[in-house]
Amino acid sequence: MTILSELHQDHVNLNKLLVILRQKCESLRAGDHPNFNLMADVISYISGYADGFHHPREDRMYEYFFGRLDKLDQKLNDCKVEHEKLKVASTQLHDTIEGVLHDSVVPMEEFADRLEAFVCLQIDHLNTEEGELFPLIEEQASEEDWKILDQNLPKPEDPLFGAKQAHEYSDLYKELIMDMNSA
Ligand SMILES: [Fe+2]
Ligand SMILES: [Fe+2]
Repeated sequence: MTILSELHQDHVNLNKLLVILRQKCESLRAGDHPNFNLMADVISYISGYADGFHHPREDRMYEYFFGRLDKLDQKLNDCKVEHEKLKVASTQLHDTIEGVLHDSVVPMEEFADRLEAFVCLQIDHLNTEEGELFPLIEEQASEEDWKILDQNLPKPEDPLFGAKQAHEYSDLYKELIMDMNSA
């Protein structure tokens, strides 16, 4: 399993949560009252995983491949900038939900807009990586590159990180599906 396939699997998993959140925006607009605690947990999970683990690994990989090809460099830079924007967006959305949970008045329409903007930003980003950047990297990379990267990419300090994340992910995913079906 190469780094790229691990990152790809992250995209698949994140995308599944994001797609449900996008459906959730529709039901919010239709007047359904959301489970804000669950939403807050899902947003925290996405930002914790993406901003805290997935993007730092990508950033390191992007630095490694920088300087080989102009066309690739441009996209590497763009994606690094997007990581910063996504981090800001996660924090803002997180603050909005915290506000809602602590009784500040946020109109549902506005909340749905913010949630949808966040989801679109995330999905666009992973589609760009999957559709444009990763194929270019794959063209450039040798077996040797993957070996070097495998040793140099940040690894979680907690040896159980992967297992805990997988567990949390499947719990949240199940809860979200149940929540959607009961709405
Ligand atoms: Fe990324
Ligand atoms: Fe990514």
